[in-house]
Amino acid sequence: KPGGGEQADAFALVREEVDCVTERLRRDIFTEIPALERAAEYFFRAGAEGKRLRSSMLLLAASALAPAPPSLHHLTIDPAPPAEHPQDVRRRQQRIAEITELIHVASLLHDDVIDSSGTRRGKKSLNAVVGNKVAILAGDFLLARASVSLASLQNSEAIMLMSQSLEHLVAGEILQLTADADEAASMDHYLRKTYCKTASLMANSCKAVAVLGGHSQADCHAASEYGRHVGLAFQLVDDIMDFTCTASEMGKPGLNDLRSGLATAPVLYAAEEHAELLPLIQRRFKEEGDVEAALGMVEASSGLQRTRQLAAFHAAEAVAAVQGMSAPATQHAAEHRAGLLQVTQRVLDRKK
Ligand code: FPP
Ligand code: MG
Ligand code: MG
Repeated sequence: KPGGGEQADAFALVREEVDCVTERLRRDIFTEIPALERAAEYFFRAGAEGKRLRSSMLLLAASALAPAPPSLHHLTIDPAPPAEHPQDVRRRQQRIAEITELIHVASLLHDDVIDSSGTRRGKKSLNAVVGNKVAILAGDFLLARASVSLASLQNSEAIMLMSQSLEHLVAGEILQLTADADEAASMDHYLRKTYCKTASLMANSCKAVAVLGGHSQADCHAASEYGRHVGLAFQLVDDIMDFTCTASEMGKPGLNDLRSGLATAPVLYAAEEHAELLPLIQRRFKEEGDVEAALGMVEASSGLQRTRQLAAFHAAEAVAAVQGMSAPATQHAAEHRAGLLQVTQRVLDRKK
């Protein structure tokens, strides 16, 4: 169970460092152009910064492979570029966390424009406040800052990994947007899209952290697999919550996916038991009563249960990836490996 009894809270293990990453992010998006800066900082302000799941995972992964804790100097907000500390592995790994948050927020800014969404994280979306044009440019600006930051690491493998996940984000969005009737009803297509939209950034950023740590190919792969499986589990749980959470719990309307025409895992599984669901999926639930009918069939099927089982499978694979890490399991590393396992459990147990 999350935080269960004797075990330390996984997020607390890296909270100070995540705070530090967040603070640097707030400073690093400074620009001479006030309108751009106001827009760019919208989701980095205190209270609007989100769960910072990605940063926490990445720093836990860095420590899970490191024999000893980083020095206190890693907790200064001083934005000195890593080039000044070429040997400073931890600082470089923190930078991957910053870049990952920048890319993630940029993709959300663009996503809310594409989805014409008025809310995000329980607040007004940026496009709702400043309009689509400025919101898109703010996303582009964050990507530009992420690119400069990434280049400054002077590590071509890390650059490759993070750039690949950028491509995957775009590919995932396009796969979703342009799916034909058969693809809309295909579990393979859904899983491919889900990898691109959610799991790739987690996988590649975890791998980049391991690469910058100078770890073995096997451990870099383990870090990547951890991120990939946690990402897939995360999205499957998200898809379940779209059916089980009310608007107030999520800060966004429930049945969002169905209403926007998307068949996620619970619906695709349900369609295997109720073939009548297929035409609804293929016409994107756009006829009167489709959403309600689809909901009924999902509830009358094992769709939600099977989706939960698939999420649990990916969570178990994430755990196996951590348990297979070959770097020495010093007390420090072991504590943070346990932290990674706890994150996995929380992703599975989360209710919003
Ligand atoms: C949220 O999905 C969206 C994503 C995870 C990725 C969106 C990617 C793009 C818009 C491509 C452009 C990428 C960059 C980096 C600029 P959702 O709409 O399914 O979920 P949500 O709105 O409920 O969070
Ligand atoms: Mg959206
Ligand atoms: Mg979207």
